[in-house]
Amino acid sequence: MRKFLLFALVFFGMEAQVEAQNQSRKILVAYFSWSGNAKALAGQIAQATGGDLFEIKTITPYPNSYDECTKVAKQELAGNARPAISGSVANMAQYSIVFLCYPNWWGTLPMAVFTFLEAHDFSGKTIYPLVTHGGSNFGRSLDDIKKLSPKAILGEGLDVSAFDRTPNDAPKVTVPNKDVTAWLRKNGIAAK
Ligand SMILES: Cc1cc2nc3c(=O)[nH]c(=O)nc-3n(C[C@H](O)[C@H](O)[C@H](O)COP(=O)(O)O)c2cc1C
Repeated sequence: MRKFLLFALVFFGMEAQVEAQNQSRKILVAYFSWSGNAKALAGQIAQATGGDLFEIKTITPYPNSYDECTKVAKQELAGNARPAISGSVANMAQYSIVFLCYPNWWGTLPMAVFTFLEAHDFSGKTIYPLVTHGGSNFGRSLDDIKKLSPKAILGEGLDVSAFDRTPNDAPKVTVPNKDVTAWLRKNGIAAK
């Protein structure tokens, strides 16, 4: 019983510390995900930092078939499209740190993330990019983030290899929580 109480004290003490440290620098975790990997990663980051989650969701959903989805995405890229997304981040001004989780699509960000970045003011905020990919790592996405939000500070990124062909499969992202936590701490962000 005494051991349990001690554990509970330490655990809840740590949680409170993380909340307190990150409260002064409010955190947003924005993500776009088709087959669930970037969503899973965003969930881990939000859980570790206490950040607010925001899903970048297109009004017109992408096809469920991998081949069809890649065709639509290729056309959007070729046409430099800005697919409409639903909603926007409420009170963006309150955030100083933004984690941006997305899959690599055709070597860069999905065009819906272009829409998201252009729709918000990132002046003075630090964007930490996190990509899930099938082998191309960040591709050109970091350059594109810089172009789309030139007034943001681009923080160190995290790239995770995970390849899925179906939406709503069990996500294949298997970044151990301790690695996510270590990456956050390396970047000066308090993490549970
Ligand atoms: C439309 C589309 C385009 C893709 N293009 C690339 C690519 O150029 N390079 C790459 O490494 N992976 C590519 N992939 C694989 C995804 O980046 C990978 O499966 C990612 O983990 C999916 O994340 P999600 O589950 O959050 O959607 C592509 C996947 C799709 C659906």
